[in-house]
Amino acid sequence: MNRLQGKTALITGAGSGIGRATAILFAAEGARVAVNDISDEGGHETVRLIQEAKGEATFYKANVTKWSEVKAMVSQVRDRYNGIDILHNNVGGWQRENKDTVVNDSEEEWDRLINLNLRGVFLVSKEVVPIMIERRGGSIINTITTNAYMNYIGSHAYGAAKGAVRELTRSMCLEYAKDNIRVNGLVPGETVTPQWTASIESTPDPEESKNFLLKKIPMGRFARPDDIALGALFLASDDSRYVNGHILFVDGGLTAGFYG
Ligand SMILES: NC(=O)c1ccc[n+]([C@@H]2O[C@H](COP(=O)([O-])OP(=O)(O)OC[C@H]3O[C@@H](n4cnc5c(N)ncnc54)[C@H](O)[C@@H]3O)[C@@H](O)[C@H]2O)c1
Repeated sequence: MNRLQGKTALITGAGSGIGRATAILFAAEGARVAVNDISDEGGHETVRLIQEAKGEATFYKANVTKWSEVKAMVSQVRDRYNGIDILHNNVGGWQRENKDTVVNDSEEEWDRLINLNLRGVFLVSKEVVPIMIERRGGSIINTITTNAYMNYIGSHAYGAAKGAVRELTRSMCLEYAKDNIRVNGLVPGETVTPQWTASIESTPDPEESKNFLLKKIPMGRFARPDDIALGALFLASDDSRYVNGHILFVDGGLTAGFYG
C-alpha cells in the first residue's frame, strides 16, 4: 500500500476496463487520480468507485484525439492537483469489422484507429511532459497490445498503430530520460473488458471464439483488468525506478511462442 502516496496520476480512458482498474488501484495506493474518458457515465462511475473506497479522484471529460480538449484537460488537472507525476496513456481500440484487409478497409476506419491509438498518445504526452519537466520527473506508461507483435488478419490498422506506439515509447525514453521522466510500454494479453466482450460477442460463435483464444494462452485463463493494473502500478511506482524504454508483457505467456 501507499506506493503512489503524494503522486498525481492522469489515466486516459479510465471510465472502463483496464483504465478503470488502474485508476482504482492507483487511488488505493495513495495517488490522486485524474480520470479521463470520453464517456460521462463511465468516468463518473470510476470516480464514484474510488471515492466510495475513500480515495481521491476527479473526472475530466475529453476526447484524447482532439488537441483543444487535451490542452484544456491537462491544464485543469495541473491547476487542481498542482502537477502530474504519472501519465497512463490507456485509450485505445480495435476494428469493428474483423474481416477487413488493407484492400477493403475504408479510409475512415484506418484514420479512426490510427488517431485513437496513436494520435491520442502523442497529444496527451505533448501536454503532460512539460509539466513533468517542471516537476523534475515522472513516469509515462503507454498501453500497447500483443497485436503489435503477433497480429491477426483484419487487425492491420490496430497492429500498425500500436507498433507505432511502441516506437513512440522508446523515442520518448531517449528524449526525456535526462529530465528524469521514464517512458515504458505495457502489453496486456487477452483481458476481459467491455470492449473485449463486445468483440467476442460480435463473432458468429462467441463460445468457439473464446475457446480458440484460451488454447493459445499458456496460463490457461484470460486476464482480468486488475492483472494488467498491477503491471501499470509497477511501471508507475519507484519499484521500477531504473526501468526506462522497456515494454512489459502482462499476457500470461501468450506471446512467448506457439502454443495450443
Ligand atoms: N482488453 C484487451 O484484451 C486488450 C488487450 C490488449 C490491449 N488492450 C488495450 O488496453 C487499452 C484499454 O482497453 P479496454 O479493453 O480496457 O477498453 P474499454 O473499451 O473497456 O475501455 C476504453 C475506455 O476508453 C474510452 N475512450 C474511447 N475513446 C476515447 C477517446 N477518444 N478519448 C477518451 N476516452 C476514450 C472509452 O469510453 C472507454 O471507457 C486499449 O489501449 C486497448 O487497445 C486491451
